[in-house]
Amino acid sequence: MSTDEGTKQEIRTVFWQDGAVVMIDQKALPLAERYVTCANYREVIAAINDLTIRGAPAIGVAAAMGIALSVLQLPDSPPEEFRRAFDDICTQFAATRPTARNLFWAIERMRRCFNERLAHLPAGQDTVGSLRPIREALVAEAIKIGEEDIAINRRLGQNGCGLIPDGARILTHCNAGALATAGYGTALGVIRAACEAGKKIHVYIDETRPVLQGARLTAWELMREGIPCTLIADNMAGFLMQRKKVDLVIVGADRIAGNGDTANKIGTYPLALLARAHGIPFYVAAPLSTIDPALPDGGTIPIEERNPDEVTRCGVVRTAPEGIAVWNPAFDITPYNLISAIITEAGVFRPPYEEAIKGATRGG
Ligand code: MRU
Repeated sequence: MSTDEGTKQEIRTVFWQDGAVVMIDQKALPLAERYVTCANYREVIAAINDLTIRGAPAIGVAAAMGIALSVLQLPDSPPEEFRRAFDDICTQFAATRPTARNLFWAIERMRRCFNERLAHLPAGQDTVGSLRPIREALVAEAIKIGEEDIAINRRLGQNGCGLIPDGARILTHCNAGALATAGYGTALGVIRAACEAGKKIHVYIDETRPVLQGARLTAWELMREGIPCTLIADNMAGFLMQRKKVDLVIVGADRIAGNGDTANKIGTYPLALLARAHGIPFYVAAPLSTIDPALPDGGTIPIEERNPDEVTRCGVVRTAPEGIAVWNPAFDITPYNLISAIITEAGVFRPPYEEAIKGATRGG
């Protein structure tokens, strides 16, 4: 499916349509704007693995919709057999992107919905054909997770807006925008909210090697919206700060531990160090569903390692000798004490973060 949507329309990253999961193809951007339709859950898993869809919240929404799709397509069976098949599919989704907390959060939410519905099957209804309400409930839940994500990002954007001075020059890394969520974005959501409030800002975008989410996705997203921006290679950030061209840094997060240590796209940690060295505030914007209060600190966050080809090539062009050894962690950890504030839909947290995180995530 392709689209020729006008430039100011909201980006629809992932949505449910006619019993399928549709997503904008982030591998094709910015050269082509096209949508892919996943007709079964295996196609959703493949799309998450190959970065057709990426960004922790967007991965969570895609997984929820993929699980709903799988349940819709599972053959009728006795409830316990149905549950086993469901569990197996959840396990397959959980094996896709290990750092993205929102993935596990979304799977848990789908599990809760499934278990509640299964437990409330009316007596004598545990036979073939009686599972339709469960299938429908899971589709509704997945769609709701997507809608809630957009609303949460808008609240988060409002909360962060006060941290952005009029005229600010902002550095961001990777893509924490509409493309990384169901819509609006987290770090870019704060930037959007500042623009909507009439503030004049300028965004510097790190290209974000090895997969170039900054150059390909953030640049596309901001230009599409007419937000003034400039692309830099990752190794230019220090000099940019030394030349006093950056007033603040804002990034998203893949997982935040209970003490505020934050996993985000590789290259985030050196930016936080640079920001500290230059006396520049460094902000993390993320929904509460990215926070993992069970993990005491960043050392316990699992870090995904990806295919060496991402490093030995730039796009499809090979740039390194055959056989070279490669280390390719997709994320790094920024210690909480380098983070000036964590912006969430529940408010702006300041260090030390433990109490605020505990309070905001209690019972969730
Ligand atoms: O490997 P990716 O592209 O999924 O990594 C994405 C990021 O690191 C984002 O900054 C993070 O998921 C936050 S998105 C709102």
